[in-house]
Amino acid sequence: MKALVYHGPGKKSWEEVPDAAIQEPTDVVVRVDTTTICGTDLHILQGDVAAVTDGRILGHEAVGTVTETGDAVTGFQAGDRVLVPAITKCGRCAYCQRGMPSHCQTVGGIGWIFGHLIDGTQAETVRVPYADTSLYAVPESVTNEQAIFLADSLPTGYEVGVLAGQVRPGDTVAVVGAGAVGLSAILTTGLWGASKVIAIDTNKFRLEKALEFGATDAVEVGPATVADVIALTDGLGVDVSIEAVGYPETLLTAASLVRPGGSIANIGVHGTPVELPMQDMWIQNVRLSMGLVDTVSIPTLLKMVASGRIPAEKMGTHRFTFGEMDEAYDVFKNAAANSALKVVITPA
Ligand SMILES: NC(=O)c1ccc[n+]([C@@H]2O[C@H](COP(=O)([O-])OP(=O)(O)OC[C@H]3O[C@@H](n4cnc5c(N)ncnc54)[C@H](O)[C@@H]3O)[C@@H](O)[C@H]2O)c1
Ligand SMILES: [Zn+2]
Ligand SMILES: [Zn+2]
Repeated sequence: MKALVYHGPGKKSWEEVPDAAIQEPTDVVVRVDTTTICGTDLHILQGDVAAVTDGRILGHEAVGTVTETGDAVTGFQAGDRVLVPAITKCGRCAYCQRGMPSHCQTVGGIGWIFGHLIDGTQAETVRVPYADTSLYAVPESVTNEQAIFLADSLPTGYEVGVLAGQVRPGDTVAVVGAGAVGLSAILTTGLWGASKVIAIDTNKFRLEKALEFGATDAVEVGPATVADVIALTDGLGVDVSIEAVGYPETLLTAASLVRPGGSIANIGVHGTPVELPMQDMWIQNVRLSMGLVDTVSIPTLLKMVASGRIPAEKMGTHRFTFGEMDEAYDVFKNAAANSALKVVITPA
């Protein structure tokens, strides 16, 4: 088969590799019908993720068809259309049992293993460990191009942003960063009845998208970003401030926007320490949350997509075939210049 193989910082190629095969009785093999690229894949290509070594097949998001099942697999059979999520889980370890498979001990202490610790989904076929507890059947009414965004970005915005931030009916919510993850938070704040959703970004195209995705207001980053947002909240600040960029300054912005008693939900992956003004924050009765997505909200999100409440397909702006993997990466890497959000990649 062919797959996208990482060969060290800055190097990748779509090349011939051995077919994915069953290794453990709990595995299945999935033929990949749709995949996509995540910002994390770009981090890997920059050499930021040391655990990813030469020869690793990249990708941690897929929708596909089961082609082979291990002897212990009972929940899936050849021909089933399935969603392969970013997180793999055994379902039994202490973390899985408390609904936190992001730290599944059985698969290595971190549930994100595809395109990281084992071969990933940017390939014609992929081996899926712990298939019974990790895969999701895709309902007939949900298309591959909708389901693919439930593998990572939608659950991330929803779980690490909206749920961790405890958005409640009537709340005013700010989302700093309107990329795929911030837009996913915007798309799902409505499920909890937010009355005002303010998108904040440096990029005009992303802000236009945010308004299409359900934001009520858009604020372009400038010298008075915080004051501009506070002015939209009757001077009070927001109930929930979601950070979806991953820089010290954006977390500081998110923290400056929250009103007393509110929540700051950090989603961004940070690469450097951040100094928070605790001398001002301690007295504000605010909460700060952070974490790796668990993807446990996928069943909920699948139902909301199936019923039309979440238009997940809006996330896909560009289409490519497997043979155009390099072009897909180029467009995604220069997403702002290409008016791109997520790319949809299919066999042909
Ligand atoms: N916690 C998790 O489990 C998890 C999972 C997936 C992704 N992430 C992280 O979430 C973050 C967002 O991911 P994404 O895929 O949407 O990334 P992205 O690059 O597509 O989006 C980031 C957005 O932030 C905007 N931005 C950049 N600088 C800004 C600034 N100073 N102020 C306001 N906006 C600014 C960009 O224009 C862009 O629209 C990343 O840090 C990613 O690594 C976290
Ligand atoms: Zn990802
Ligand atoms: Zn586990």
